Amino acid sequence: MILDRNENKDVVVLLGAGAMGTAILRRVAAGKRILLGDISEKALERVSHDFQYSGYDVQTYIVDACDPASLKAFAEKAASLGPVKVFVMTAGASPSQAKPEHIIALDLIGTAYAIDAFGAVMAPGGAGLVVASQTGYMPSALTKEDEQALAMTPAAELAKLPCLDGSKTASSGAAYIVAKRANQLRVQAAAATTWGERRARINTLSPGIIVTPLAYDEFNAPGNTYQGMIDASPARRTGTIDEIAAAGVFLLGPDAGFITGTDLLIDGGVIASMRAGKFALGRR
Ligand SMILES: NC(=O)c1ccc[n+]([C@@H]2O[C@H](COP(=O)([O-])OP(=O)(O)OC[C@H]3O[C@@H](n4cnc5c(N)ncnc54)[C@H](O)[C@@H]3O)[C@@H](O)[C@H]2O)c1
Repeated sequence: MILDRNENKDVVVLLGAGAMGTAILRRVAAGKRILLGDISEKALERVSHDFQYSGYDVQTYIVDACDPASLKAFAEKAASLGPVKVFVMTAGASPSQAKPEHIIALDLIGTAYAIDAFGAVMAPGGAGLVVASQTGYMPSALTKEDEQALAMTPAAELAKLPCLDGSKTASSGAAYIVAKRANQLRVQAAAATTWGERRARINTLSPGIIVTPLAYDEFNAPGNTYQGMIDASPARRTGTIDEIAAAGVFLLGPDAGFITGTDLLIDGGVIASMRAGKFALGRR
């Protein structure tokens, strides 16, 4: 049976077929062609089955976000399907899931390559969303000069930056803070350069503690500071993927047509409570 007779449909792309990304995609993909990319074949099978049986037009692609050639091929595949109007990047690893080097390779450098790869194929009027994290607002050893370098250095040269030599990213937690800060900074740069030149917008969204399997890995890790964050925060609770999806829809949609190169922090006020001295990392 042919469920949709429309041709030349807009393409919406998700890189990282996890909890948060799929929640966002569900809200923006009706009537569009979905391309789902992930390193995990199992995740792709599960998520594409859910999408297919919910009435979406979905294709999958195995992509390694740590590999620039794989990312380029993924972006080219997306462009071959039609005008790419939405790109959502949620492939990532959290501190309890990976060593510092992998967090830098995936969450920072891989994300930088993904921003570039899609900056080369977005259709005019398209929009991108990179899911960063509230940790991008947390104290780090980065100087102003480091931040400028993280924003503007070509992706292929990022690994050589002095601030990524290991001294400022020795633990997975420190690496995650630097990587997510870099996501925010590089999106600002892309909005003003490659993405802007294609008349496409790009923003970051920085979630706080959002309950997903990834978050449970953090909750179960020894020495986690999440309870202290929740207790000190104005919201006094964790967030849900639906709350992230609602904000994602806004940032990707026409009501946000004048918003590019910015970050939306959705953390229940955790960063506000840190700034007000009610909570500090390391204090439970
Ligand atoms: N859940 C939270 O509380 C939270 C808070 C702040 C930020 N984040 C960030 O949001 C993003 C999504 O988080 P989530 O909770 O939906 O995670 P998730 O684990 O459900 O999804 C991440 C997906 O990325 C995929 N992936 C991992 N390595 C990859 C690679 N090399 N190439 C391609 N795909 C790869 C995984 O297979 C998985 O499907 C991550 O970047 C995470 O750091 C999460």
